[in-house]
Amino acid sequence: MLTYTTIKELRKALHHERENGKTIGFVPTMGALHEGHLELMKRAKKENNILVVSIFVNPIQFNNKEDLDKYPREMEADSRLLESVFCDYLFAPTVEEMYPAPDKTNYDFGLLGNVMEGAFRPGHFNGVAIVVKKLFEITEPHRAYFGEKDFQQLAIIQQLVKMLQMPLEIVPYPIVRESDGLAMSSRNMRLTAEERAIAPKIYEILQKAIKLKNVLSPEELRRWTSDQLTQTEAFRLDYVEIAEDQYLQPVEHWNNASGMVLFVALFLGKVRLIDNIRIF
Ligand code: PAJ
Repeated sequence: MLTYTTIKELRKALHHERENGKTIGFVPTMGALHEGHLELMKRAKKENNILVVSIFVNPIQFNNKEDLDKYPREMEADSRLLESVFCDYLFAPTVEEMYPAPDKTNYDFGLLGNVMEGAFRPGHFNGVAIVVKKLFEITEPHRAYFGEKDFQQLAIIQQLVKMLQMPLEIVPYPIVRESDGLAMSSRNMRLTAEERAIAPKIYEILQKAIKLKNVLSPEELRRWTSDQLTQTEAFRLDYVEIAEDQYLQPVEHWNNASGMVLFVALFLGKVRLIDNIRIF
C-alpha cells in the first residue's frame, strides 16, 4: 500500500493508474476503522482494479467541538487493517492540505437536507458534501462506496452526484453489525463497558418494531418505538422517524409506492448513535 498526504502526488499516481486502464474503487472514511469499513473496502476491491481509501477527520462536518476532539484517531492500527484488505492507496491529508482556504460553498439539498440528521446537526451535511466532492475530484474514482448505516448521508451523496453530474457510480452497502446486533461505528469505542452492554437494545427494538407494521399505523409505530427506547433510562432520544427511502420524508400511511425505513438517533452517555432498519 502506498500512502500519500498531498493531493498533487496522489493525483499523479492515480492518473497513471487510469492511463493504464485500471478502474478505481474509492472508500472515504474518517478512520478508526472497523469491520463495517473493511467490508465496504473488500467489495470495492472486488469490483475494481485499484482500491483507494481516504482517512480524514473532516472538521467542518462536526457540529460539536467535543465530538471532533474526542473522535478516535488510530493511524497505525488503521494502516495494518488496510494492508489486510489489500488497499492500494491510502490518502491521509492534513486539514491544511484539504482546506488551504475556507470553503464557503453552501449546498441546498432541499427536503432531504432538512429532516432527521439535517435538522439535528445543522451544517453537518454541507460539511460532508464539501469534503466528499473534493475527495471525488482528487481521486476521480469509477465507483465510490457508502454504508447504509448513514442512510441519509448516502442519499445526500447520491443527490450531490446527480446535481453536479459527477461521472461516477455510488454503491450502497448494507449495515454491518456486531454479533449482538449493534451497528458498527467508530464511536462505539467511546462507550463505557456498561453503555456498550445496553447499546444492542436499539437494534432489538428496531427488529421488534418492524414486525408490528401490520397492526400499527406509521404514527403509532413511531410512538411505540420511542416508548420502548425511552424505557431504557440511559437512552436520550434525538428522534425516531419513519420515512420513505428517497427524500426521507415522514410517512403517514403505509403504501407500496416507495420503500420505507425506520430511523433512530439517540445519545447513550456522551456518544450519539444512529441506526435504521427497512420496513418495506
Ligand atoms: P465514517 O463514519 O468513517 O464512515 C465511512 C463509511 O463507512 C461511510 O460510508 C459509512 O456509512 C460506512 N460505515 C460506517 N459504519 C458502517 C457499518 N456499520 N456498516 C456499513 N457501513 C458503515 O461517513 C463518514 O466517515 C464521513 O462522513 C465521510 C463520508 C468519510 C466524509 O467525511
